[in-house]
Amino acid sequence: MLRTHTCGELRISEVNKEVILCGWVQRIRDKGGMIWLDLRDRYGITQLIFEEGVTDEKTLAQVREMGREFVIQATGMVIERLAKNDKMPTGDVELKVTELTVLNPAKLPPFLIEDETDGGDELRMKYRYLDLRRNPVRENLKLRHKVAQQTRIFLDAQEFIEVETPVLIKSTPEGARDFVVPSRMNPGEFYALPQSPQTFKQLLMVSGFDRYFQIVKCFRDEDLRADRQPEFTQIDCEMSFVKQEDILQMFEGLVRHLFKTVKDIELDEVPRMTYADAMKFYGNDKPDIRFDMKFEELNDLVQNKGFSVFDDAELVVGINATGCAGYSRKEIDALTDWVRRPQIGAKGLAYIKYNEDGSTKSSIDKFYSEEDKAAILERFDAKPGDMILILAGEANKTRKQLSELRLEMGTRLGLRNPAVYKVLWVVDFPLLEYGEEEKRWFAMHHPFTAPKPEDEALLETDLGAVRANAYDMVINGTEVGGGSVRIFQKPLQQKMFGILGFTPEEAQAQFGFLLDAFEFGAPPHAGIAFGFDRLCSLFGGSDSIRDFIAFPKNNSGRDVMIDSPSPISAEQLKELAIDVRK
Ligand code: AMO
Repeated sequence: MLRTHTCGELRISEVNKEVILCGWVQRIRDKGGMIWLDLRDRYGITQLIFEEGVTDEKTLAQVREMGREFVIQATGMVIERLAKNDKMPTGDVELKVTELTVLNPAKLPPFLIEDETDGGDELRMKYRYLDLRRNPVRENLKLRHKVAQQTRIFLDAQEFIEVETPVLIKSTPEGARDFVVPSRMNPGEFYALPQSPQTFKQLLMVSGFDRYFQIVKCFRDEDLRADRQPEFTQIDCEMSFVKQEDILQMFEGLVRHLFKTVKDIELDEVPRMTYADAMKFYGNDKPDIRFDMKFEELNDLVQNKGFSVFDDAELVVGINATGCAGYSRKEIDALTDWVRRPQIGAKGLAYIKYNEDGSTKSSIDKFYSEEDKAAILERFDAKPGDMILILAGEANKTRKQLSELRLEMGTRLGLRNPAVYKVLWVVDFPLLEYGEEEKRWFAMHHPFTAPKPEDEALLETDLGAVRANAYDMVINGTEVGGGSVRIFQKPLQQKMFGILGFTPEEAQAQFGFLLDAFEFGAPPHAGIAFGFDRLCSLFGGSDSIRDFIAFPKNNSGRDVMIDSPSPISAEQLKELAIDVRK
């Protein structure tokens, strides 16, 4: 090897040993008689020392010509430092260099390779390989590695088998948009990249694998956000001969194991909330339960008192912003502007301040008596010093808007500490949702999800009321995983495709392989997939999954480093039988 030790390894016990280090030049301080050089590799930093009159002239000249990020090899003697640095693991020693080799010079990097860098997002992404030299970014990927390792350790111990499923598969009409790949050997035909290995893992259950998992790339051509990438990774799992309860317990176990081994955190009991309650009390199917601030509906208290905004609303609903009665006029105006922004879309915001002296002040004083306001405050169990914030309008929209306001108030009040983790199961999702635009029913999770047996009769009468044994795991308001108990019998699966608007022929053409498989002894089965990138970013305390992906794409789906996507040659297009002329 080119080195005897790494740059993070030397301690006082190595004093007087001759060693060879390799690494990148982090910093050079030339004080005339003495030169110090910080040499960095993945493992740490070691200080090298050169001394006028002691170090030979050639080596001194070499150091003086070097710059940041040169790759060098240094041979020398480990000596005890006079001025020790207890902030560095190697801070007791330094290397008195006798021989220096420049393995490769380096251009000045376009941004500082330091924990705090001056490089903007775009620049760091263009030179991602330099960004990855920085400690915080590398630590994120080490964390990702650890989560993957611990996932494998846990699932292996539970008899799960990791099986790879294909990446070139078939485009299906449900779900997000597919990325497609033209087939040269089958002109005019396309593969699709998997949005998830859903049907394959179900087929593995038919094959008797019993417990499957895979840490697997998935591809979805959808609009991107901080927690969405066009290619992302799932911890994908499936089990046979289980009920929903078994899945919840098994994967609560996995998440508990990950928190313990990766974060050294013992998770509390993981509560469960029905989808209906999540929507009613938080206006959201992934509530952040690090703080309470539950919705209270007010229609019965506020309507028919002459305030037309409330009278005309389908829903009047509010939250208690605890301790906010001191908000100034200006602050309330700013909050009103905030809910009126097009992203939120509320028409206005009503408030009731419960002052410390017991008096009240509200934006609706004209319409409501002291008793009316007292009844509202009581519903929220408000205390002096609190402020009630109220929105009104069409029920679903208003719930969504209040959910945003609740999260905003939680943030403002410091109730969303990223170091506090609250895990939640949301259960009993509806099986179907109606697309007003398309005028048809869609599977809320996916078409392979089974209705709750007790709701199956409703498939004939009230599709919107059918609940599924479908569940999401939510951590701090982020959906980290989702899954369901599956349909495993052909007639029910055919019926489901019918409800989703497939003719029997279309269903057979698209999913014949699965329908056929269900006739050859398919066991009851259920599963779940976790968003691996999301789990990692939560563990790392960041909102952006990009920080935990080695080479991520930007918000336009581009990799600015390799400059992709990119056009291909006319020749390639021809070979693929693709005509892109307008
Ligand atoms: P679902 O579509 O809910 O379920 O996906 C599972 C989890 O994957 C994560 N996720 C994403 N992460 C980053 N970028 C994206 N674009 C993205 N899309 C989804 C989320 C989500 O909870 N086959 C089913 C699972 C099953 O039923 O077993 C599935 O894919 O954290």
